[in-house]
Amino acid sequence: MSFRRLDDVDAKGKRALVRVDFNVPMADGAVSDDTRLRAALPTIRTLQAKGAKIALLAHFDRPKGKRVPEMSLRLLVAPLSHLLGAPVSFADDCIGAPAADAIAALAQGGVVLLENTRFHAGEEKNDPDLAKQMAALGDLYVNDAFSAAHRAHASTEGLAHLLPAYAGKAMEAELDHLDRALGAPKRPVLAIVGGAKVSTKIELLSNLVTKVDMLAIGGAMANTFLFAQGKPVGKSLCERDLAETARGILAAADKANCHVLLPVDVIAARAFAAHAPSRAAPIDAVGEDELILDAGPETVRALIGAMDEAKTLIWNGPLGAFETPPFDRATVEAARAAGARAKAGALIAVAGGGDTVAALNHAGVADQFTFVSTAGGAFLEWMEGKDLPGVAALQASAP
Ligand code: 3PG
Repeated sequence: MSFRRLDDVDAKGKRALVRVDFNVPMADGAVSDDTRLRAALPTIRTLQAKGAKIALLAHFDRPKGKRVPEMSLRLLVAPLSHLLGAPVSFADDCIGAPAADAIAALAQGGVVLLENTRFHAGEEKNDPDLAKQMAALGDLYVNDAFSAAHRAHASTEGLAHLLPAYAGKAMEAELDHLDRALGAPKRPVLAIVGGAKVSTKIELLSNLVTKVDMLAIGGAMANTFLFAQGKPVGKSLCERDLAETARGILAAADKANCHVLLPVDVIAARAFAAHAPSRAAPIDAVGEDELILDAGPETVRALIGAMDEAKTLIWNGPLGAFETPPFDRATVEAARAAGARAKAGALIAVAGGGDTVAALNHAGVADQFTFVSTAGGAFLEWMEGKDLPGVAALQASAP
């Protein structure tokens, strides 16, 4: 993939506008997961070492073009400064005099966080005028927000066309690893796709069957596929109206020579509750009063066998109701198997999207994976094969 990289930039004394994704979860006014703040540190430190003046652009939540005090980025100044080990100043607006003055006051290596870009209605409309006002503040643009790259907004897309545009360190790592997983991967490639609903992943599954060699389907969405094949699913979560869609995806996989692994056994229970009595059942023996809550041991064994065959693994979505023990077992066992193989260098293992990171953390193996994306929606759109506007703009501006 071609885009400008930070290693190549001469940033001494230059004003760098750095788009980060600081859309972090908060609880009681405090950051409850600072992964995204930490993800921006390598880029900030690289630019500090190069003597740039660093202005951070970010959105937070969805204020819809209005100033909403609870959605002010001011709340993140202290935690960011603490993680960075250096002072961070704040500007009350991301354009105009407040931002320009704050940037002018920076020493080389200094950092200012600019107020929520989404306080301006033009941000989400990708308004050229807003982008122009942002561009006036800087000499170069760095996009480090892969997780917001599926949005064509002024600070993620428009701005990239107005200044020399670079990928930040986190963006670079995302693009390089995702390219290794789906762009030009070592084959065979195994994809594991889990989660609750087929309806949210139709495009993703349709794209994957044309790209990967093996596709394992897990989570409640596997129930829809089992139902589509005439298997009993009892009271399980199942999108019965999508049976035809599921059969279509299986037919497309067949045509593309993609081997689909569906559960061969399941963990079934009469109630969905922590530690509810449960049993392993073959897929044609689920009772009418039972719910499928996890993949069974034979299924996990087959999945680990597929990992042994594969050179590359791409994982999105848990295999069962992993937040409710013991229905986390299949996800944990499979994640540990993948982590061990990645750590031993036998498998390139890439994961991302919402619950997936939580599931890998729960299994204690996120750090063994080759790469874990910080993105939710952007990761899914990338798996769907879509062009991400924020990435496309970086590529378009590459020399
Ligand atoms: C995210 O949290 O996934 C990104 O920051 C994008 O946020 P959005 O869904 O509000 O555009």
